[in-house]
Amino acid sequence: MERILITGAAGGLGKLLRAELKGWAKVMRINDIADLGEAAADEEIVQCDLGDLDAVTAMVDGVDGIIHLGGKSIEGTFEEILNSNLRGTYNIFEASRRHGGKRIMFASSNHAIGFHVREQSLDGTSAQRPDSIYGLSKCYGEDLARYYFDKFAVESVSVRIGSCFPEPRDRRMLATWLSPADFVRLMKCIFDADRVGVSMIYGVSNNRETWWDNSHAAFLGWQPQDTSEIYREKIEAAHPKPHWDDPAVRYHGGMYAKVGHFEDP
Ligand SMILES: NC(=O)c1ccc[n+]([C@@H]2O[C@H](COP(=O)([O-])OP(=O)(O)OC[C@H]3O[C@@H](n4cnc5c(N)ncnc54)[C@H](O)[C@@H]3O)[C@@H](O)[C@H]2O)c1
Repeated sequence: MERILITGAAGGLGKLLRAELKGWAKVMRINDIADLGEAAADEEIVQCDLGDLDAVTAMVDGVDGIIHLGGKSIEGTFEEILNSNLRGTYNIFEASRRHGGKRIMFASSNHAIGFHVREQSLDGTSAQRPDSIYGLSKCYGEDLARYYFDKFAVESVSVRIGSCFPEPRDRRMLATWLSPADFVRLMKCIFDADRVGVSMIYGVSNNRETWWDNSHAAFLGWQPQDTSEIYREKIEAAHPKPHWDDPAVRYHGGMYAKVGHFEDP
């Protein structure tokens, strides 16, 4: 690949990919609204607000693929989510269309399906069931992906990321953990594939406890190598077993399904 664009490059996953995908494309164009420091010889830095369509259209010019991580990554006010996630994601898909349809990886979230109960295993046909305004914005991004493929043939893969951190941080993450290395491997599979159409995959490692079945996306050839199991003893010792009927354990989305409306006093 000649040139890849990574949005949200100053964030947790963006920093990971900036380091781990170095050399994968000849040029890495990186974007954030936050400072990205000095550009390396093979980097181009574009600091702009994803909510600005003209800036995003200019930024997408000349790229071969887009890893779209930028946005509000937790629950927030509607105004924050409106600009960064709704307007920002629209601008990325629209800019891709204007430049002939560059393949997009859209960082969706498990919070798009957070109100399913844990006894129910989900697959590629499961309905969206958002647990927050944040989760709702990820459903919007997935629907945008569908619309832009059906109407304009813009290819994309929405990755419903579980919990991508160096280690799982609580009992729930024993099921939702996605190792950074598996995430990097997934990014490569998405852009190496001959065809992705408009697809969705759950971003989760090879954990013992699992709620998400990725067999519908086997064509991507992604085989997660890591497992949260090696952290189980440590996590279970540090976090007491919750009540079985606590909403935070009843639903896939955990605490997001339990808490009330973000903007209530
Ligand atoms: N880390 C995870 O476990 C996880 C889980 C589910 C989904 N995701 C999704 O993956 C993506 C990356 O997650 P992260 O953990 O790295 O988040 P993060 O919050 O660390 O990074 C997001 C980045 O987006 C930038 N950003 C926000 N609004 C912007 C705007 N309007 N214009 C330009 N840049 C803007 C922020 O400055 C930040 O650097 C997010 O879209 C998030 O919703 C992550």
